[in-house]
Amino acid sequence: MSQAKENAALAALDFVQDGMTLGLGSGSTAEIFLEHLGEKVAGGLKVQGVPTSAQTAACAQENGVPLVGIDKVSRIHLTIDGADEVDPVFSLIKGGGACLLREKIVAHASDRMIVIVDESKLVDNLGQFPLPVEVDPFGVTLTAEQIYEALKKSGVQNGVTTLRQNSDGDGPLITDGGHYIVDCKCELIPAPGETAHLLSQIPGVMEHGLFIDLSSIIIVGEPDHARIMELKRE
Ligand code: 5RP
Repeated sequence: MSQAKENAALAALDFVQDGMTLGLGSGSTAEIFLEHLGEKVAGGLKVQGVPTSAQTAACAQENGVPLVGIDKVSRIHLTIDGADEVDPVFSLIKGGGACLLREKIVAHASDRMIVIVDESKLVDNLGQFPLPVEVDPFGVTLTAEQIYEALKKSGVQNGVTTLRQNSDGDGPLITDGGHYIVDCKCELIPAPGETAHLLSQIPGVMEHGLFIDLSSIIIVGEPDHARIMELKRE
């Protein structure tokens, strides 16, 4: 286990208060957070979690974190999630774990989103990590072409798209919501807001992995401590 991710996850616990409904992100860093949250719950902390993936739900159950369905809550106080890239204004690429649609629904519904990462995720510009786009299987070839055009129009030089395959290598990966993932090798996304806007206009796109203006706190785990970065939004 990476000590940097562990330190980020531990620092996020300080933001959790008794009685909170938490959005539970997906990925390895979010799972480390769940292990420590489980210890707090065993010690008497009362929280309930809305999972963003089947894998996160299983991990929460293993660690004794009570779960609640998203349709049963009127408010999510705080979401803790990982990210694949974080830029200087806290725009994110997410979806490396193929959970981006549910992660965005939960983040968007939350009063606050805190992102936990190690330093390798901090970048000057988004785009080195392939941008995941969750799409409906119907018309996927057409949708992928429209994604390519949207990337080009928003200044991405050569946004090569590939359909993500499952780990058995016998077909496309299917997300928890029954969709496919198109990964876009962008190298540089010069105008993330414009790219996000154009991708959202494509009917076959369920959601894209650009998370803009959603997070105001990034916790960066380092080998021996965690650094908390905060952005004041108007
Ligand atoms: C899953 C995600 C994850 O948060 C992202 O891939 C980071 O994962 P990790 O903490 O394992 O590096 O977006 O869809």
